[in-house]
Amino acid sequence: MQFERKDILDMESLSAEEITFILDTADQLKEISRRPVKKVPTLRGKTVVLFFYEPSTRTRSSFEIASKRLSADSISISSSSSSMVKGETLLDTARNLEAMNPDVIVIRHYSAGAPHMLARLLKTSIINAGDGMHAHPTQALLDLMTVREKKGSIKGLRIAIMGDISHSRVARSDSIGFIKMGADVVIAGPPTMIPKGIESLGVTVAGNADEAVKGADVIIMLRIQKERQKSFLYPSDREYSKVFGLNPERLKKADKKVLIMHPGPINRGVEISSEVADGPYSIILDQVTNGVSVRMALLFIVAGGVRNVDVD
Ligand code: CP
Repeated sequence: MQFERKDILDMESLSAEEITFILDTADQLKEISRRPVKKVPTLRGKTVVLFFYEPSTRTRSSFEIASKRLSADSISISSSSSSMVKGETLLDTARNLEAMNPDVIVIRHYSAGAPHMLARLLKTSIINAGDGMHAHPTQALLDLMTVREKKGSIKGLRIAIMGDISHSRVARSDSIGFIKMGADVVIAGPPTMIPKGIESLGVTVAGNADEAVKGADVIIMLRIQKERQKSFLYPSDREYSKVFGLNPERLKKADKKVLIMHPGPINRGVEISSEVADGPYSIILDQVTNGVSVRMALLFIVAGGVRNVDVD
């Protein structure tokens, strides 16, 4: 399969065949991170700009590591250190960056659609590293990679996604991705955190946490995004933990080989107990490891032009 694409913006615009190609490429590139010298010349001479308007630990550092492992030059810009603080618009900032001829701009922005706007108006490749409450395609792809790696296949799995669904770009992108790859997705959370019409994505809404967890092959826990909530949507952390948190007792209802995932950052003792987060079913750190490989694959696809994978 040939897969060349200028931008990676969301999961809607990727076909199941393209997702499989990205995951296969990431699988091949993963080996580089296990070498004593973790570097190949594949993107030598290419420039990647990391443009983050929201805080990030995992996404930003893994894009930076991914760029370095492929020998691309990368620079990092945050909103507080850019001329945004002097009133420059996003588009003007991006056009000025483009004038320096980078090959890829990786952007995280608090406004839904910001990466899509830049992709329309700039010639430079754009990768969406999370836009508002809309999409986080690179997180969904690393989640798909991690589940496929652990289970062998995604088709037919029961994936439970629990927590603050309405503020979660991960919930949206994961739901779209897992359904495209043939899984059944069930979501659960406080009614105040379930968006109206979410069923249109193809997910089932469970009545409560126990119903969602029952027989689940994979459970993806999400944190409550207090920073995006305009009012209190649940009585207290303690109450939330009791009703929707994942603890060893609730976990017993899942499949015996269940995988526990979380995009991070986790709030221990709120949506997930430490026993579960650090327990034998947790693959939370595997997700982080695979984040580097998926982001290497995406940089390779948009900046390298994939004809065949040559990583020697
Ligand atoms: N999962 C995720 O996007 O984490 P960061 O916000 O730390 O990048």
